[in-house]
Amino acid sequence: MNQDEKYMRMCFALAKKGKGKVEPNPMVGCVVLNKSGMLVSKGYHKKYGEKHAERDALLKLKNNEAAGGTLYVNLEPCSHYGKTPPCVDLIIERKLARVVIGMKDVNPLVDGISKLKKAGIKVDFVLTEEAEFLNRVFIKNMTQKLPYVVLKTACTMDGKIASCTGDSKWITSNESRALVYKMRKEFDCIMTSSNTVIADNPRMEHKFKCILDKDLRVDKSAKIFQQGEIYVASNENTPVKNGRLDIKAVLAELFKRGIYSVFVECGGTLAGSMLKDGLVDEIYQFIAPKILNDNSGMSCFNGNEIYKIIDCVQTDIYKVETLDKDILIKALISKALN
Ligand SMILES: NC(=O)c1ccc[n+]([C@@H]2O[C@H](COP(=O)([O-])OP(=O)(O)OC[C@H]3O[C@@H](n4cnc5c(N)ncnc54)[C@H](OP(=O)(O)O)[C@@H]3O)[C@@H](O)[C@H]2O)c1
Repeated sequence: MNQDEKYMRMCFALAKKGKGKVEPNPMVGCVVLNKSGMLVSKGYHKKYGEKHAERDALLKLKNNEAAGGTLYVNLEPCSHYGKTPPCVDLIIERKLARVVIGMKDVNPLVDGISKLKKAGIKVDFVLTEEAEFLNRVFIKNMTQKLPYVVLKTACTMDGKIASCTGDSKWITSNESRALVYKMRKEFDCIMTSSNTVIADNPRMEHKFKCILDKDLRVDKSAKIFQQGEIYVASNENTPVKNGRLDIKAVLAELFKRGIYSVFVECGGTLAGSMLKDGLVDEIYQFIAPKILNDNSGMSCFNGNEIYKIIDCVQTDIYKVETLDKDILIKALISKALN
């Protein structure tokens, strides 16, 4: 690993300390080396509305301590007045010689790179793909004005989530289910369906839940209504397309309400439909060491008929965890069906 990669990875680690506190801002970390290449300061964006990482790192130093040095930051420094003044101005004022950036900011208001170059500061990029992966939620929010969507499923080794009678308790282990409770907290909202609420009557503890229920079939006495704020998407507040709720419109509405990430817990019909429509960014798939061995059981993804393997949804697996009994696969969707 070269020096630039080493310090950029340090920025990633610092940036992650802001997870859950900086949203809808990106997670950003910064490392400063002096003219002799000695690490003299570190900083990160700690909370939404507070100092950016570059400011946090540079303001810990005396006026000329960073002069001629290198600043590492995983996101292009800002050049506009937002909640804080532009970071590029401070970088120029402190006379850095070189700035190493992870990724360009997707916010169209930001043009820090040209301002730095105009001031004679050398700009380089390193580990761009990893920097984009770290801030994938921010990128989706900023470029599409939609929440980032993770679809969770828990299935047998043959991809089944329930038997033909709808029996589904329990496929995965206690440990996996406990992990799901924890995961939910990382998202602004849990989304589920009328069918799943009617079949399982889950409590799904969370501060904000969205139920897709076109014809308002779910009874208000269901456990899910006992806690948290609930947004029910139905034909009364959501457009209907081909006889189904337009989920993109639901996601856009959630975004307007300040929901930046959604965790979907549903059966195969909704999962299949969302995958087909390209509305899923990522899958968390728990697989239990069980085989239902019955094709009439319910599949975790139940979209339309597909004739060619070339038409599969492609994913990029980025993590496989072995739990007590099950495995958990985390994968980015790289190609949705047309
Ligand atoms: N193992 C797991 O991870 C897991 C998780 C959850 C559920 N489950 C199991 O899954 C089973 C239910 O699966 P399911 O396939 O019947 O239901 P589902 O996939 O959970 O939900 C399908 C329903 O979602 C609603 N929906 C709204 N907009 C939609 C759209 N654009 N496209 C598709 N659906 C849309 C429709 O109901 P409306 O017409 O009422 O809007 C539709 O009937 C249950 O047995 C449950 O136990 C398993």
